[in-house]
Formats: sequence, C-alpha cells, structure tokens
Amino acid sequence: MTSGPYSSKVMDHFANPRNVGVIEDADGVGTVGNPVCGDIMKMYIKVQNGHITDAKFQTFGCGAAIATSSMATEMIKGKTVEEALELSNRAVAEALGGLPPVKMHCSVLAEEAVRSAIDDYLRKTTGKGLEIEKGAYLHEDHEHGHEDG
Ligand code: FES
Repeated sequence: MTSGPYSSKVMDHFANPRNVGVIEDADGVGTVGNPVCGDIMKMYIKVQNGHITDAKFQTFGCGAAIATSSMATEMIKGKTVEEALELSNRAVAEALGGLPPVKMHCSVLAEEAVRSAIDDYLRKTTGKGLEIEKGAYLHEDHEHGHEDG
C-alpha cells in the first residue's frame, strides 16, 4: 500500500505539521487565500536583526496546503528576510519530494503566505511593504515548469 501520488515527506508534514499555531507578539502576520478552492493560510513571523527567528502557521485547507506551509516555516526559520523572500513554491514542493501537478497551486499559497507576512513586517518597520499584486499568484504562468518527467 502506498500513499498514492504523495511522497512520504508530504504525508509526514501533513500528519505531523511543524510550527502550527500563533505567535502572539509576531513581527509580521500575513493571511492569504485561494478563492478557487477557498483554502486559507495565516503565517506569523518573528524577526530579530534581520533574521526570521520563528515562524508559525494556521492553515484551513487541503493536505498539500498544510504540508507546504509546514515545510515553508521550516525553510524560512534562520534565514534573513531577503533570503526568505526568495523561497519559491517550487523549492517548497521539491523539499517535500514533489507534489502532483494538480496540487502545485497549494504550494503557491505557502509562498504567498510567507511573502504576505514579510510584507506586513516591512510595512511596520520601514513603512513600505512589498509590491504585492492582489491575486498575482493565481495566474497559471506563475507556476513555471512541470512536475511530470
Ligand atoms: Fe486549496 Fe490545496 S486545494 S490549497
């Protein structure tokens, strides 16, 4: 018996997600949603000396959304804000051992949540946030590349 199209890492992060919860005194909080499936992700980050020292999330969504937000929080912890901004949904999916093509949009939600939390942090600290285009992550062409090989 296998877990179908999902890698063991995806199943692990889905069944035992890391960093679930709330950071009460977060330096940045971002909430994003996918209007197509209705799933919502909220990301909290703590920043010290330009480094992300903690990250937590709450995801009301599918298993792939939970697994990718779990992996995304693990990947941005310890990184600088600039490095975390470079985290792509594909990098998150790859770290999970890949996702089925129909589930790649779920990883986009994780990337978008990280960017949204950083945007909030930058707004609070510098008065200027990222240029986030509303809904920009929903366009097909954002998901460059193919998972099939
Ligand atoms: Fe909505 Fe996965 S189906 S994020």
